[in-house]
Amino acid sequence: MNPLPKRKAPGPPGHFLLGNLREFRRDVLGLVMESAATCGDIVRCRLGNQVVHLLNHPDHVEQVLQKRAANYDKNTRSSAAIRAVTGESLLTCNGKAWKRQRRMDQPAFHHRQIIGFAEQMTTATEAAIRSWQGRTMLDISSEMARLTYSIVGQTLFSFNTGEDAAAVEKAMRVILPHVFGRLGNLVNWPDWLPTPANRSFRRSLAEVDKVVYRIIARHRRAQEAGDPDLDLLSMLMRVRDDATGAGLDDSQLRNETITFLLAGHETTANALTWTFYLISRHPEVESRLYEEITRVLGGRKPTLEDVPQLTYTKSVIQESMRLYPPIWIIERRVIEEDVIGGYTLPAGSAVVISPYALHRHPAFWDRPEAFDPSRFESPPPAAYIPFGAGPRSCIGSEFAMLEAQLITAMVMQSFHFDLVPGHPVEPLPDITLRSKHGMMMTPHPRSAQVRD
Ligand code: HEM
Repeated sequence: MNPLPKRKAPGPPGHFLLGNLREFRRDVLGLVMESAATCGDIVRCRLGNQVVHLLNHPDHVEQVLQKRAANYDKNTRSSAAIRAVTGESLLTCNGKAWKRQRRMDQPAFHHRQIIGFAEQMTTATEAAIRSWQGRTMLDISSEMARLTYSIVGQTLFSFNTGEDAAAVEKAMRVILPHVFGRLGNLVNWPDWLPTPANRSFRRSLAEVDKVVYRIIARHRRAQEAGDPDLDLLSMLMRVRDDATGAGLDDSQLRNETITFLLAGHETTANALTWTFYLISRHPEVESRLYEEITRVLGGRKPTLEDVPQLTYTKSVIQESMRLYPPIWIIERRVIEEDVIGGYTLPAGSAVVISPYALHRHPAFWDRPEAFDPSRFESPPPAAYIPFGAGPRSCIGSEFAMLEAQLITAMVMQSFHFDLVPGHPVEPLPDITLRSKHGMMMTPHPRSAQVRD
């Protein structure tokens, strides 16, 4: 029997040499939304000589991320760009190395471990809220970045981030756009060339590395003194390879530490920033949210036991991540040729899945552009993947949801926010979906004082 003829998926027209690279550089969210709307659930694009399929149907997403996950790896342009920051780590490695690393990291994310973090999360949030008293304007995106960074530092690395939070935040503002910017170029200058952009990137990365190596050195000292912290890094320091008995060396520990410091704060900070923005634009949501928070907490600081009662708070966060998923795009490389939805995906080509587009797919979402947390009162459709899906889905999802619920409840309990009039709000799709101009808000303290 003859094999079926190979079919090419439809796609937007492009330049003969650049393909769709110019549109990608100009407005990548526009390119993704426009091509999904006009070409359907499988779209073939070309970025230079790289064929990329955009998949926008939950069945196709399931095939790539779950059912045939072993045929799709992270030898991708985006992972290569991230590797320039993290090196080989859980986020970027493949195959056996990934499996081994996931096994090592997993115990730190067991349910019983995560619930033990609730108190550190509320204490850090309390300190942030205290620091806002008397302020007339806040960049809530910057405040959230510092808060989530301090939480990940304390919970996973027993590390007080106070003194370097501002330096790390500044470094991230250089690192993320640099990494993402490289994806839109057909050819990049090699990293080692001293171009102004490369120099500034390397300086920023060195800032973050300084922090990371300080954390590692402190843990080594504590371990030598026989008094190790009970955190992710100490656990990784104790792990030994079954076959060789070797532990992780400092550069491997550096790669895991930087991965968790960055992946563990930037994403949640963006989710919270968009959440507070959306709440400020929807008074009816805010009053229902505030009613729940006052009813459940009665003016107290939340504890772990309160979290299951904060159901509307959770729906607000879920709906905010539907409209503004912090990881707005997921990329894989096709290992062996595959057929999806009747179209051929060549070996070595790339597939991208955009939670941003999938979360607004009109076939799965009623009034997709509307902010309506009540839609999460029933289980979401399969077209909802803020934490990805399958074996490589987010290891920190439970951590992130607990943290986001506690922070949203505490902040809303203490303040009502108004967006500063005239402040421009524009999503910036870097590696994460950030707010291009920050998020300037006026905090109005609520009258009741929060009790312990
Ligand atoms: C709202 C917050 C967060 C969102 C939306 C988010 C989203 C995601 C997504 C979509 C993936 C899968 C990427 C892919 O398939 O290529 C992922 C992976 C990952 N996330 Fe998160 N994340 C969040 C918070 C966190 C936190 C708090 C941590 C750690 C403390 C974390 C650590 C990681 C790591 C290490 C991976 C790679 C897992 C692997 O490949 O095995 N994330 N995240």
